[in-house]
Order: sequence, then structure tokens, then C-alpha cells
Amino acid sequence: MEILKTVKEVQDKIASLRSQGKSIGFVPTMGTLHEGHLSLVKQCIVDNDVCVVSIFVNPTQFNNKEDLIKYPRNLERDGKFLETVGVDVIFAPTEEEIYPEPDTRQFDFGQIDKVMEGVYRPGHFNGVAQVVSRLFDIVKPDKAYFGEKDFQQLAIIRVMVKQLNLPVQIVPMPIVREQSGLALSSRNERLTPPQKELAVNISKTLFESREWAQSLSVRDTIKKVIDTINSFDGLEVEYYEIADGYTLQSVEDWNESGYIVGCVVVYCGEVRLIDNIVYKA
Ligand code: PAF
Repeated sequence: MEILKTVKEVQDKIASLRSQGKSIGFVPTMGTLHEGHLSLVKQCIVDNDVCVVSIFVNPTQFNNKEDLIKYPRNLERDGKFLETVGVDVIFAPTEEEIYPEPDTRQFDFGQIDKVMEGVYRPGHFNGVAQVVSRLFDIVKPDKAYFGEKDFQQLAIIRVMVKQLNLPVQIVPMPIVREQSGLALSSRNERLTPPQKELAVNISKTLFESREWAQSLSVRDTIKKVIDTINSFDGLEVEYYEIADGYTLQSVEDWNESGYIVGCVVVYCGEVRLIDNIVYKA
């Protein structure tokens, strides 16, 4: 496994692999890797001749400076983890490598980034699009892997790839959960053991809500999910939306779409946790 730090090193490596006819798979990450990332990496290794993983905590996608400062960083541990799995190349650039000049590009994703995370984290998806398009340009992958935990991010990356006409196939991967049901996230590292137990009630409520949806309206299901999660001391819902799985626009009625997803953000103490559940697929 090679750990490359500069754009030039990666471009030279990719050019040499391409000249040998190798297919390139890519998993972009912000590090502090867990089993969720591992599922993306394993699929990437199966599907492609070469698996490239980037580790870069992208400052342009953090609308909250404090969150950026507190974001966990574990490059040494991540490197060991990826080596044991059989990753070929790690790209771990500095900020100057990715943004030699400030990135002033403004993307227009229509309505899809005007809801949920787009409302609560203004500028977040513009930053994600900046870094992912830049990384795609450097790595030039055939396939790139994204987790469904960040449901809206995945939808937006798909729109971006279409808008920019990029020759990359986006491969979605299901949420990986702890045995307790808690969705794996790098942010879970910031939870204390009692908070971790508390946070289990997020996924538990989402799973239960599938039953509630059999008899309740969309509006009442939303209310019950929010009330249930908020009833746990230490959990606070930022938003819960039930939306069309493609457009991410809210639905009023269960019959409005054939693909319906519920997306939640909950603060567990100071830690912002995200999860989702599919009601109809
Ligand atoms: O999902 C993430 O970890 C990040 O948003 C991504 C896609 C690596 C871009 O920084």
C-alpha cells in the first residue's frame, strides 16, 4: 500500500495504472474509519483492479468552525486499518494540495439541497461538491462508493455527476449499524458510553416508526418520531423529514411516491447524529 500526499504523486500513479489497463475504484473519506467505511472499501476492492481511498477533512463543507476543529483525526490508525484490508493507495493531501487557491465555485442543485441538511448546514453541500469534484478530477475513478447513511449527500453527488457529465459510476452502499442498531459514524467516537446507549433510541424509534406508518398519516408519524426521540433526556431532534427518496422533497401522503425515506438529525449532547429509514422502496 502506498500513502501519497501530493496531487502530482496521485496523478502519476493513476496514469501508470491506467497505462496498464487497470480499473480504478475510489472511496473518498474524512478518515477516522469504521466498519461503515470498511464495507465501502471491501466492495471497492471486489469491483476494481485498484482501490484508492482518500483521507481529507474538508474545511469547505463545515459551516461550523467548532465542528471542524473537533472533527476526529486518526491518520496513523486509519493507515494501518486500510493496509490490513488490502487497499492499494491512500491519498492523504494537505489543504494546500486540494485548494491551492480558494475554491469559489457555487453549485446549483435545484431544490434537492434546499431541504434538510441544506437548511441546517448552509453551504455544506457546496463544500462537499467542491471537494468531491476536485478529488474525482485528480483520481479519475471508474467507480466511487458512498454510504446511504448520508442520504442527501448521495443524492446530491448523483446530481453533480450528471450536471458535470463526469465519467464515474456512483455506487451506493447500505448503512452499517452496530448490533444495537446505532448507525456507524466517525462522530460516535465523541459519545460517552452512557450517550452511546442513549443514542440507540434514534434507530430504535426509526425502526418502530415503520409499524406506526401502517396506521398513522405522514404528519402524525413525523410527530410521533420527534416526540419519542425528544422524550429521552439528552436527545434532541433537529429535524425529521419524510420525503421522496429521489427528489428529497417532503411528502404529505404515503401514496405520493413509490420511494419514501425518513431522514433524521438528532443532537446527543453536543454530538450531531444523522440516520435514516426507508419506508417504501
Ligand atoms: O461523507 C464524507 O465523509 C464526506 O462528506 C466526503 C464525501 C468524503 C467529502 O468530504
